[in-house]
Amino acid sequence: MRTRPLGTNGPQVSALGLGCMGMSALYGDADRAESIATVHAALEAGVTLLDTGDFYAMGHNEMLIGEALRTAPAALREQARTSVKFGALRDPDGGWGGHDGRPAAVKNFVAYSLQRLGVDHIDVYRIARADPGVPIEETVGAIAELVEKGHVRYIGLSEVGADTIRRAAATAPISDLQIEYSLISRGIEDEVLPTTRELGISITAYGVLSRGLISGHFTADRQLGANDFRSMSPRFQGENLRHNLTLVEALRKVAEQKGVSVAQIAIAWVLSRGEDIVPLVGARTRQRLTEALGALDVTLDAGDLTAIEEAVPDGAAAGDRYPRAQMAHLGTER
Ligand SMILES: NC(=O)c1ccc[n+]([C@@H]2O[C@H](COP(=O)([O-])OP(=O)(O)OC[C@H]3O[C@@H](n4cnc5c(N)ncnc54)[C@H](OP(=O)(O)O)[C@@H]3O)[C@@H](O)[C@H]2O)c1
Repeated sequence: MRTRPLGTNGPQVSALGLGCMGMSALYGDADRAESIATVHAALEAGVTLLDTGDFYAMGHNEMLIGEALRTAPAALREQARTSVKFGALRDPDGGWGGHDGRPAAVKNFVAYSLQRLGVDHIDVYRIARADPGVPIEETVGAIAELVEKGHVRYIGLSEVGADTIRRAAATAPISDLQIEYSLISRGIEDEVLPTTRELGISITAYGVLSRGLISGHFTADRQLGANDFRSMSPRFQGENLRHNLTLVEALRKVAEQKGVSVAQIAIAWVLSRGEDIVPLVGARTRQRLTEALGALDVTLDAGDLTAIEEAVPDGAAAGDRYPRAQMAHLGTER
C-alpha cells in the first residue's frame, strides 16, 4: 500500500482511507456483518486510515469500528489510525441541532468516543463544522490540551475556509483538512488548497464519488429512503440528477477506453491532484472496496487528464452539494 503524509507534522497514512459513515447512516440500510468484514478487508489490504464521526447514527458508527478493531488480528488493529469528527448535535429523531465547539464539550465528546471505539487515544480529532458561537482558537486549543494529555495524537479540521484554517494553524499544528473534493466538487481549488499547501496541511477528501453519484453504479430510478441524505441533496433531484448522470456517461467512455471502471477513474483523478491529498472512499462492502482499491493502480497521463476534464468540465454539475440549510454551515463555497 502506498502511503501519504497527513501534513508536515501528522502521521503517514495509506494513500486511500476508508470512510465508514455509510456503514451506519445517511445512505440507507447497511449490513453490519458485511461492514465489519469490509473494515477487516481494508486493514488487510494495507488501509490504515479509518474515518468516522461520533454523530453518525449517534455513536453507532464508532461502536461498529470498535467491534471491527476488537475482532481484527492485533497487527492489523495496531496499524489502524482513527480519524473522528465531533460537535454535530443530534436529537432522538435524527434531527440536526447545530454544532458545539466549547472546550468543555470537546472534552466530553472525546471521553465518550474513546469508550465507544475501545481505544486509549484517537489519532486525528476534528470538529465537523466550526461552531459559529465559539472562536476556532478555543476549540482547537481544547484539542491541543487533549494532545498534551495523550488522548488525541493530531488535530484536523473539517469544511472550513481559508481564514479559519489560518487561525487554527496559528493556534496549534494541524495535520489535515477534511473537505469534499471530486471531479464535480472542485471548489477547494481557488483558495482552500493554496492555503493548506502554504501551511503544510493535507487534505482528506470526502465525497470523491459524490456520494455514489459519479460511481457509475447510480441510476436515475434508484429509490432512496427518507433517511438517505441523497433524497434531500440537490444534485440527486429531478433534472439535476438527469444532467449529472450524463456527465457520468461521458466519464464512462473515458474509463472504458482505459479498461477501468468509472469509480476507479474518479478516485484516480483525486489521487492525481497531489501527494497531499488522501481520498476517503465510502465503501461499505468488500466488493466496492476492491473496486476502490483498484484506483491505486490507475496511472493517468496528460492525455487521460484532458479526456477526463473534457468529459466532466470544472463546474459542470447541476445542484449544490448540500441542501440549502446545510450549505450555511460550510466555511467555503463558490
Ligand atoms: N467531513 C465531512 O463533512 C464529511 C461529510 C461526508 C462524509 N465524510 C466522510 O467521508 C467518507 C466518504 O464519504 P462518502 O461516503 O460520501 O463518499 P463517496 O465514496 O463519494 O460515496 C460513497 C457512496 O458511493 C457508492 N459507491 C459506489 N461504488 C463505490 C466504490 N467502488 N467504492 C466506494 N463507494 C462506492 C457507495 O455505494 P453503495 O450504496 O453501493 O454502498 C456509497 O453510497 C464518509 O464515510 C465519512 O467518513 C465527511
